Amino acid sequence: MKKQLQDIFKGFSKLSREERLNALLDAGALQAGDVEYISRGGLRDTTLGEKFIENVIGYFQLPLGVATNFRIDGKDYVIPMAVEETSIVAAVCKSAKWIRESGSITTEVVGAEIIGQIQCAKVQDFATFEKQLLAQKNYMIEISNREVAFGLVRRGGGVRDIKVRRVPRGDGSDMAVVHVLMDPCDAMGANIINQVCEFLKEPIEQFTGEKVTMCILSNLVDTKVTRAVVHIKDIDPALAEKIEEASLFAQQDPYRAATNNKGVLNGIDPVLVATGNDWRAVEAGIHAYACRDGQYRSITRWYRENDGLTGVFEAPLVVGTVGGVTTLHPTAMMCMKMLGTQSANELSRVIAAVGLVQNLGALKALTTVGIIEGHMKLHTKNLALGAGAEEREIPLVQKKLEEILTIRKRISLSNAIEVLKDLRAGQASSTTHHSS
Ligand code: MEV
Repeated sequence: MKKQLQDIFKGFSKLSREERLNALLDAGALQAGDVEYISRGGLRDTTLGEKFIENVIGYFQLPLGVATNFRIDGKDYVIPMAVEETSIVAAVCKSAKWIRESGSITTEVVGAEIIGQIQCAKVQDFATFEKQLLAQKNYMIEISNREVAFGLVRRGGGVRDIKVRRVPRGDGSDMAVVHVLMDPCDAMGANIINQVCEFLKEPIEQFTGEKVTMCILSNLVDTKVTRAVVHIKDIDPALAEKIEEASLFAQQDPYRAATNNKGVLNGIDPVLVATGNDWRAVEAGIHAYACRDGQYRSITRWYRENDGLTGVFEAPLVVGTVGGVTTLHPTAMMCMKMLGTQSANELSRVIAAVGLVQNLGALKALTTVGIIEGHMKLHTKNLALGAGAEEREIPLVQKKLEEILTIRKRISLSNAIEVLKDLRAGQASSTTHHSS
């Protein structure tokens, strides 16, 4: 009988890699073919790279892990995360467990349309341009849907609206920027919206007598934002207050906001990578949205509410589940299957939740034990490896580094090098001693 995800999550991190794969198999999250594929390193076709980029010389490997314990809108997920930074996966699983036991995660996507931009850099008169363009708006929507976005229209999407914005040139005059609003359904929509914008270039020039300078999508998709809300009941009031204070810090100070948002992206980017989505586009959108009122601020907010703690993430998070790398890369396809999201919006909601939960873990650590204990402790293995320790030496170097950490509250690569040197010197002298 198929096991429930909540049953395989218990003690998952303590299992060997093979046992984890078998547990995912038992829960139906992976199929036998997936387990075989990923156990062999996840590279089936060595010419795959050539299908994506030019000048290919090889592959860059990232560890692929899974985030456990997530229950979002009442549904359990196994969330794939491709990332190299120590402690990201461990921290997010721990926080997800905390929320699972004493709280909830709810999500929604508000709005449906992505934005394409058409710039007319120098218009004679903005008001005339706007009038001429808007007079042809319905016709332009109709021809875009008929000639370019017909596939989307069939799936229930397509171009919905056209707007004109006046953007100051900075020299007292204005440029005109046309916004094309399009529902991309389950695609990320980059290619199709760019095609629509380029298609509209000629009619716009004809109707207005002005010149189009360039066409491209915007990553600041404030017309379609994803919200995730975490609520934790039964939280130590002192801890809730500390997290609220940390959140205020990131709201008010851009220096702190940048680091806070990096921590949110620690959760978001690995899922984007694992599912073959464009993480640069999402990052650009999130950062731009984070300074929509003129100051760069935290993309999350935490506040005390009803004797508990509430956290909110809200930002554009446009992803696709059809087209692009998502449906071409075998590992991304496997990850998508494992995750089991049914639409691009559901994927976006899951990713927003991961970002918010990652942020909670960071804020809790920062306002309690500090980053060193939570982060560097797990980092000792990397330091040992960096110092050149061999497999059998790693636990010994790690143990020594942990002792140094407890006493001095900090450790570095030079500590690891020193420890390894002492260890080897000790072993050499005991061997010499033994043989003499
Ligand atoms: C480190 O990768 C991420 C943090 O700096 C995030 C934060 O400061 O909120 C811990």
